[in-house]
Amino acid sequence: MGRIQHERDAFVYCGKVSSFDSAHFRAVLAHVPTSVVVVTGLDAHSEPHGITIGSFTSVSLDPPLVGFFPGLNSQSWPLIEAGGSFCVNVLSSAQSELCWKFAKEADDRFAGIDWSAAPSGSPILDGCIAWIDCTIHSVTEVGDHYFVVGRVEHLTSTDPTADAMVFFGGKVTSVGRSE
Ligand SMILES: Cc1cc2nc3c(=O)[nH]c(=O)nc-3n(C[C@H](O)[C@H](O)[C@H](O)COP(=O)(O)O)c2cc1C
Repeated sequence: MGRIQHERDAFVYCGKVSSFDSAHFRAVLAHVPTSVVVVTGLDAHSEPHGITIGSFTSVSLDPPLVGFFPGLNSQSWPLIEAGGSFCVNVLSSAQSELCWKFAKEADDRFAGIDWSAAPSGSPILDGCIAWIDCTIHSVTEVGDHYFVVGRVEHLTSTDPTADAMVFFGGKVTSVGRSE
């Protein structure tokens, strides 16, 4: 058990939840910039699915593992999981339309989207600056999300000079490489 530094932040330091302000949690965490990726995959009927994800991270070099956190109520994740693999599409700063398209509810998020198949068959979205094709290593429930770990099977950066998209303060922006 850690000590309580401030009543509002008690949940951070001690095992018991004595005070929790989710709006405060969100506001503080909005100061942490994240990458923006679209995790794609094929379901059991080979139909493509994709989700905009900001919680993507590198996990391990040996073995090569990456991970991300889809919500327990995700519609797309169980369908992708059924296919056994996924592809992480790292968005460029010019792809805000794709970012929001894969974050909104829609019958077919792939309508009008150009893509090609990664070695696993998962979609690689045209214009992404890197893609990482994975088989599913493990899925663990953590709070109100899953922690999905993928074993990297193939990966490439498509445009080493491109500017990446960043999510910061509730908005998508760019890393500003070209500024
Ligand atoms: C920049 C950005 C980052 C996001 N990151 C995540 C994330 O890490 N995990 C998550 O569950 N949802 C995240 N979302 C929200 C999902 O994209 C959104 O809830 C989507 O509708 C989920 O689709 P699904 O229900 O088909 O899985 C993010 C949205 C945006 C715009």
